[in-house]
Amino acid sequence: AYEKLWLALAIVLILLLIGSVTYGAVGPGIAMVADSQDPVDPQALDEDDRFAEPRVEQVGEDEYAAYVEAYQFGFDPDPIVVPEHSTVTFYVTSPDVIHGFQVVGTNANTMVVPGEVAAITVEVTEPQVYGVVCNEYCGSAHHAMEGTFEVV
Ligand code: CUA
Repeated sequence: AYEKLWLALAIVLILLLIGSVTYGAVGPGIAMVADSQDPVDPQALDEDDRFAEPRVEQVGEDEYAAYVEAYQFGFDPDPIVVPEHSTVTFYVTSPDVIHGFQVVGTNANTMVVPGEVAAITVEVTEPQVYGVVCNEYCGSAHHAMEGTFEVV
C-alpha cells in the first residue's frame, strides 16, 4: 500500500514542478516575449492588430513597441523613431521571404521569418541615428534593403 502512496506523492511533486515552470514562463516579467511569439498569417498582415499599421506605439512610461514589416525590399515604418532614454521592443515580421533585421553598430540582430514574429528589446540612451539592414539574402535588391532607426 505504501508503494501507491509514494507513487501518488511523486506524481504530485512532478505536477507541482511542471506548474511552477509553466507559471514562470508566463509570469508578468516576460509576458511580452510570450506575446511576441504568437504566429501571424503572412498573407493577411493587414488584418493583424500588430501589423496592419506598422508603427511605434508607447506601451509604458519609457517603453515602446515597434511593429515592423521587413519586405522585399525595405522596412516599414522607415524611419523607426523613438525618444531617448527608453526601452524599445522591435516586433518584426515578413509578408514575403526570409529577411534579416539588424540595427547597425548594436547587437540587435535577428532573422525575420514569414509567419513568425521576431522580438528584440533594446535600451536606448542618447539621440542617435542608426542604420537598419537586412542580412539574409532575400532577392535581387537585398543589398539595397535598408532602413533607419532614430533615437530623438
Ligand atoms: Cu531582405 Cu535581404
